[in-house]
Amino acid sequence: MISIPVTASRNYCVKIGSGILPCLASEIHQLTKATRVAVISDSHVWPLYGESVQTILSDSGLEVCSYVFPAGENSKSGDTFLKILNFLAENRISRSDCLIALGGGVVGDLTGFAAACYLRGVAYIQIPTTLLAAVDSSVGGKTGIDLPAGKNLAGAFHPPCLVLCDTDTLQTLPEDIFRDGCAEVIKYGILYDKELFNRLLGQGLSFDRESVIARCVELKRDVVALDEYDTGLRMKLNLGHTIGHSVEAASHFQISHGKAVAIGTAVITRAGCKAGICSQETKDHILRILEVFGLPTRTDYSAQQLLTHALSDKKRTGETLRLILPKDIGECIIFPMETSALYAFIQEGL
Ligand code: NAD
Ligand code: GLY
Repeated sequence: MISIPVTASRNYCVKIGSGILPCLASEIHQLTKATRVAVISDSHVWPLYGESVQTILSDSGLEVCSYVFPAGENSKSGDTFLKILNFLAENRISRSDCLIALGGGVVGDLTGFAAACYLRGVAYIQIPTTLLAAVDSSVGGKTGIDLPAGKNLAGAFHPPCLVLCDTDTLQTLPEDIFRDGCAEVIKYGILYDKELFNRLLGQGLSFDRESVIARCVELKRDVVALDEYDTGLRMKLNLGHTIGHSVEAASHFQISHGKAVAIGTAVITRAGCKAGICSQETKDHILRILEVFGLPTRTDYSAQQLLTHALSDKKRTGETLRLILPKDIGECIIFPMETSALYAFIQEGL
């Protein structure tokens, strides 16, 4: 098992390894005074792992209740959020008790936000079961829900007290969803780590999960330590996301987040290369790795369609949008761009 300490407004560890789920009970007893635990999960993950988690917890003397909602981004809503809060109250979860997010990023974001708000804040543990959740959403304390006006428009920073990533749970993940998570893994290589990038390029989908997840978590941990509240450096984690979110929104979320981020990364890399920000070789390497992982690099949406959605990006400040652009493998820059210049830039990248 690899244990990675995270220093933030609340310190916690990310533990990664095969078969580590049974450690959950002893971790809860060490980290909290909980007597009751509420496990929040979705309709795909609960049938796979719910019973084991419930048994692990109840065998250690904890009272366990569970709330399971329909899988999918549509559930990351105010409606589910309120249902979870009411469920916690009905089950008399107290301030010293603990919530458990058992699932992917949707479960993690919802549970984390419920933990931030219920009784003005209770402890929660992330058990990420998708690659994306393991390398990104379970770490860093961003929690939230979507509003009808857009994704992640309500939320809070509320770090978990532990992230327990049992890599065995990734074995049941459909390959397509695993591939989506790979887009975020590749992102860390492009942003910060040429060696990771080259390892991924060489090994493709068969990369060693435990060590690669651990490396991504270390990289995210370092960013969160410098900019927990997302006022500067943390925005680099949005590499490929501005155009990626536009692709997602334009497709009415029929194109998955990972594939949209891959397209977004390819578009800004091509455009950045034409603008002289990265070399032809760097551009070719980035497009190549996306292809090696079976991720798309092109979209049929027009620059105008993508622009319309990009302009509602919540990271826009006035008339300026900050794009993250690759300069070299392992080095990206924050590039402020007037919204009036964005159309031409996107057009260059299509
Ligand atoms: P998800 O949670 O919807 O999971 C994808 C699908 O995989 C779901 O159908 C789920 O039921 C299923 N699944 C999960 N684990 C499984 C397993 N082990 N076996 C079989 N099926 C399994 O999506 P995701 O990609 O994990 O997360 C996306 C969400 O994460 C988005 O809402 C995004 O906004 C959010 N996110 C948050 C942060 C953050 O910092 N908080 C960062 C990145 C993404
Ligand atoms: N996934 C973006 C962030 O955590 O900031």
